[in-house]
Amino acid sequence: MRPSGASILACLLWITGIEAYFGIDYHAKASYFNFQVNGNSLYVFGLNVAANGDIYFHMSGPVIHTWLGIGFGSEMKDALMIIAYPSANGLNTTISTRLGSGHTEPVYTPDFEIINIYNDTYAPNADTVTDRGTGTIISHAMCRNCTTWPTGSLDLHSTEQPMIFALGPSQHFGSDSVEASIPRHSLYGQFTVDMTKATNYTGWYGRVPAPNIPDFIYPPNDTSFASFGTSPSFNVVTMSNPMPTAHALLMCAAFVLIFPMGAVVMQFLRKTLWHGAIQIVGFVAVLAGFGVGINVARQYNKSKNFSSGHQVLGLIILAGLLIQLGLGLLHHAIFVRTKQPTIIGRIHFFLGPSIMLLGLINIGVGFNFAGNSRMNIPYAIVVVAIALIIAGSTGCLVYCRSRRKYKPEPPHPQFGQQPGYSDYEMPRQPTFGEQPPEAYEPPTPYSPIGHFTIDSPYTPLSAYTPVTPKTWKKEDITNWPHWPHAKDDYQ
Ligand code: HEM
Ligand code: HEM
Ligand code: HEM
Repeated sequence: MRPSGASILACLLWITGIEAYFGIDYHAKASYFNFQVNGNSLYVFGLNVAANGDIYFHMSGPVIHTWLGIGFGSEMKDALMIIAYPSANGLNTTISTRLGSGHTEPVYTPDFEIINIYNDTYAPNADTVTDRGTGTIISHAMCRNCTTWPTGSLDLHSTEQPMIFALGPSQHFGSDSVEASIPRHSLYGQFTVDMTKATNYTGWYGRVPAPNIPDFIYPPNDTSFASFGTSPSFNVVTMSNPMPTAHALLMCAAFVLIFPMGAVVMQFLRKTLWHGAIQIVGFVAVLAGFGVGINVARQYNKSKNFSSGHQVLGLIILAGLLIQLGLGLLHHAIFVRTKQPTIIGRIHFFLGPSIMLLGLINIGVGFNFAGNSRMNIPYAIVVVAIALIIAGSTGCLVYCRSRRKYKPEPPHPQFGQQPGYSDYEMPRQPTFGEQPPEAYEPPTPYSPIGHFTIDSPYTPLSAYTPVTPKTWKKEDITNWPHWPHAKDDYQ
């Protein structure tokens, strides 16, 4: 076989000792795994094990994937994992060693020492995120004591040592903490490594695997890797995790849309049954969101103990809603029998808005908790817009009502009998204040919309002095229930 130009060049460089400068180190054996999609490298892992058991590794992949992980083992459970993600400022790489216990976030363990290696000639971007934090996460380090761990070990003589790898979802994420909570992967898979090609059995020589693209590229490029000494990937799965989004959507639907709608229906239309039905739908949405929340919570270290502020507040809100629902139903059941306002209704009236406010606050807290604080801006805009719509329509309603103040009417004019009569209003239902309300859950002076059993159009049979808030006498209001609970149920 005729030697290729590249091998002759490599040989010459090796003899002259220049090879180290150009990034090919013949003393440090190495295996390489390059996972590609459509010809583009998505994940690279290079491994060299020194005779003393130190593991030198290079791991790189596009920063759009948030984090890159390698696991020694055939599945998450019992694997020793090394995970790399951008630092808090997005420019450097944080490397974290973790132990897996199943299909949940692996837990950081300080038993292994990671030593970042910055000074290889062929790795100018070692342990940084290239292109000012927008390119490739490059982790370039040595892991000490990493060949054995409490639940497994690397078989340095195996030609098929099982390995797993994974990439995070496309999300903004960065932290300097080795214990940072990472979001669940969007892609994972397995491969095997021929450890005999990666291990220096004699001498302590160890070195982070250099780029191994067969033809020299100058200047040396720290992402030019080709698979060598590893199997192709298998059991590769791409998965999205819709659960946190579903949790957020259900909670937002309940607290931003459904509950306010139910309150508005009660406030303006006085339809208790509609109100009850709408609020029960909201409550079911919160229950479903809660179920999804528990599922999500179990997967992450930050939430598996249910002790975070977001979760504790969430549980308080859920308990409050349960009480609120019970109070609403109880008040209504008593009211239907007695036709009297109840203290239970009063509590329900004040507890409702408080819980709704807490729910709105907890949505913001939830976005922060999920590392999604950027969502708080659009969220705040939507909440303010909805609040303005409700306030605006309330204002309009109050204004329209005040313009329709009742004036005692002259006898009905026949059409054409009173030319020029300009102050004539169509007969209409009187507004509150014009005559004393009925005893049964009448609207109070503060009720925005009155509800009367008098048929409309209505014209008083005989003239009377309208009672306005200014002219009320004590006896006019003796029978009124007290504010604000006079405006209880209307069927
Ligand atoms: C927040 C962190 C993580 C969570 C919540 C998580 C969760 C899960 C879940 C739920 C599955 C099962 C998927 C299915 O049924 O299709 C799974 C599988 C898998 N994950 Fe993870 N994972 C995390 C981190 C990692 C890391 C860091 C790696 C690799 C370094 C990894 C590698 C794998 C692999 C290879 C599988 C398939 C093999 C197996 O069943 O264990 N995961 N993971
Ligand atoms: C978790 C579910 C519920 C929530 C969050 C809730 C919330 C509220 C709120 C915010 C108000 C004040 C509305 C206003 O400004 O006028 C209110 C009033 C009221 N709700 Fe509910 N409600 C719920 C369930 C129910 C149910 C199931 C019923 C009965 C069918 C009910 C009956 C009433 C009544 C009668 C009032 C008027 C109380 C008064 O003015 O004293 N509610 N509710
Ligand atoms: C009224 C109560 C609650 C509201 C309004 C609420 C809302 C939210 C929101 C908006 C997020 C952000 C999700 C994202 O950006 O992907 C979130 C995250 C989260 N919530 Fe809740 N939540 C509530 C209760 C709970 C409860 C009771 C639990 C657990 C028992 C829980 C567990 C979680 C977890 C684990 C996350 C983080 C998800 C991640 O990191 O991807 N939540 N919540």
